[in-house]
Amino acid sequence: MDRLLIGGGVVLKGELRASGAKNSALKMLAAALLADEPVVISNVPHLRDITTMIELLASLGVEVVVDEKMNIEIHANTIKSFRAPYDLVKTMRASFNVLGPLLAHYGQAEVSLPGGCAIGPRPVDQHLRGLEALGAKIEMSDGYVRATSNGRLKGGHVYFDFSTVGGTEHIMMTAALAEGVTVMENCAREPEIVDLAEFLNKMGGQIEGAGTDTITIHGVDSLKGCSHRVIADRVETGTYLIAAAATGGCVKVRNANPEHLEVVISKLREAGANITQTDDVIELDMAGKRPQSVSLVTAPYPAFPTDLQAQIIAMNAVAEGTSTIRETIFENRFMHVHEMNRMGANIRLEGKNTTAIVKGVRRLTGAPVMANDLRASVSLVIAGLVADGDTIVDRIYHIDRGYEQIEEKLQNLGANIRRIASE
Ligand code: UD1
Repeated sequence: MDRLLIGGGVVLKGELRASGAKNSALKMLAAALLADEPVVISNVPHLRDITTMIELLASLGVEVVVDEKMNIEIHANTIKSFRAPYDLVKTMRASFNVLGPLLAHYGQAEVSLPGGCAIGPRPVDQHLRGLEALGAKIEMSDGYVRATSNGRLKGGHVYFDFSTVGGTEHIMMTAALAEGVTVMENCAREPEIVDLAEFLNKMGGQIEGAGTDTITIHGVDSLKGCSHRVIADRVETGTYLIAAAATGGCVKVRNANPEHLEVVISKLREAGANITQTDDVIELDMAGKRPQSVSLVTAPYPAFPTDLQAQIIAMNAVAEGTSTIRETIFENRFMHVHEMNRMGANIRLEGKNTTAIVKGVRRLTGAPVMANDLRASVSLVIAGLVADGDTIVDRIYHIDRGYEQIEEKLQNLGANIRRIASE
């Protein structure tokens, strides 16, 4: 198992390109199962989660062709199996989203219940209720969900009990091939949902309202081939901006989308950063200053994303002043806190571990650390960048699930970071 060795104390400076959004690309790969013709998805990041999804499609008999630029062409009509096995679903929750497309297109699906990051229980009740509203017959046994439909799925009314990104996307893509109209209310509004709706509409889908809390889907008889470029990864972009701010540095992120990061940019300005932006470039300059602490609450888009909570805690750990960070999306999403405290941070958890009180210290001290979720792991990399001495981040296969070429990108910004094999 690889580890990252980080020599702390370098101020990040330079330029990088944002990768395509993992969370968009994964759902598009699942949605490609709906089409009768080949679809091409470009700007796909080269990540472990993407490879897992490709393996899953291949295990169904779907032909997937990947070129050297990570343009992915998918021919769903070569499909032979409708069963997504535990081995491929357990490591990544997004793979559960093949259930609806298989059912809508082929009338049957058998998908293992998902695994994914170890952040709270993460049930799929909203997904299953939504599929049932479209006429799916769902049975569960031996850790598998078996879904069938009596003829085509039928459009229906779906009300989500709370904002769910995966649930909204899953039902939206499934309803695209159902007979009649589906209205979904209390939908999540994340940019990846809008990107997926655009992809489905290019395939001939008729979806309106993505990005608002009510989405209307006029089901069509079949979906055709198309090509689509995935949006920029806002979480990756935000991670590098926060890392630069934590080190007092200056970075320019190209191929980014500032519109999707409004709240994050405003929080970084509050921390003392000077930020300029054009349509697809964000430039942050801390001018060597120590950041000011910023307090925030994570919530569904357009509020501050839970996927950047751990990274902002790393910045606050070395900022001036005390901050309060409240997590409202996932239970159990503060495992980085204990590791940062081992590095000399002063962070206290309150309220059944829903709130972190971060008292900034001038510097952290390097240490061997690890985490078992993607964003917690990357926050430890940021902590390592602002620590005196060496930090070794273990179990970085979590980071490889979501950050393309992280050490190369950080090295280009001047960081002292390299990948080493485990002893
Ligand atoms: C997606 C993102 C993830 C991000 C999250 C919230 C992908 C691949 N992942 O995850 O990076 O952190 O959105 O922005 O796109 N829940 C239920 N029942 C359900 C569905 C969800 O109780 O049927 C709960 C979850 O446990 C969680 C909350 O609802 O507490 C939000 O989850 P959801 O928005 O669905 O997150 P994901 O789609 O899994």
